[in-house]
Amino acid sequence: MTAAEWLPLLQEIADEADGIARRFFRTAGLRVETKPDRSPVTEADRAIEHAARAVVQRRHPALEVLGEELGGPAKTERTRLIIDPIDGTRNFVRGVPVFATLLAIEQEGEVVAGCVSAPALGMRWRAARGAGAYAGDRRVRVSSVSDLSQASLFHGNLARAESRPPAGFEALVRRVERTRGFGDFYQHMLVAEGAGEIAIDPRMQPWDIAAVQVIVEEAGGRATSLAGERSIYAGSLLTSNGGLHDLACGALTSGGAT
Ligand code: IPD
Ligand code: CA
Ligand code: CA
Repeated sequence: MTAAEWLPLLQEIADEADGIARRFFRTAGLRVETKPDRSPVTEADRAIEHAARAVVQRRHPALEVLGEELGGPAKTERTRLIIDPIDGTRNFVRGVPVFATLLAIEQEGEVVAGCVSAPALGMRWRAARGAGAYAGDRRVRVSSVSDLSQASLFHGNLARAESRPPAGFEALVRRVERTRGFGDFYQHMLVAEGAGEIAIDPRMQPWDIAAVQVIVEEAGGRATSLAGERSIYAGSLLTSNGGLHDLACGALTSGGAT
């Protein structure tokens, strides 16, 4: 199958996921548990991943699945769906509408298609390799800002519950025009749309990165670890409009010495 031919499957799963998320969002008595890594998981996260696996079973039974809540092989050359059923679970639990289902197809170790569906924002982004990135029907492209002093920098949690900001973070903040702490998938989608230039997340899993990587790259940007490695297994994520990538990466990895 070509990269673009995977998009209908991702959209079908996203439709189911959106319906489940909407049913549970802002409801009294939502069941929330704490996982061994101390992050929350809700009954909605689990229901969405089960529903996604059921769609795969119906449509492409040979397709493997790696999901945040139900697992899967760490790495494989085989074609598989990678799913984060709810990215932004902490937001979901608190009633903040910035959460999304992240879906990607990985083929021979490369992500070829991705979909990010955020039902409470009424937004869905998608991309297939070589076919561009879209927000709904609108083609999206990264910005052409080439000077850090005119850049917007996005980040996630700076408090103690998750990973601390990287060493060079404060130095980078001093060099940009503006910062916003949107966090999670949303900050990277804003980079893909050209609404900001740099987004950083110091601790990421493959399911956090896969869909985001292909969407940002198809929008003309770059997606690497904070150390500059292009891999969904590299453990962190820096997205940018491309032009500012090496500068941002350098500032972060030098611990502020640039
Ligand atoms: C979280 C988000 C966040 C990252 C955290 C993840 P979740 O995912 O991806 O950006 O910094 O490490 O746990 O738990 O809301 O799916
Ligand atoms: Ca996530
Ligand atoms: Ca999740």
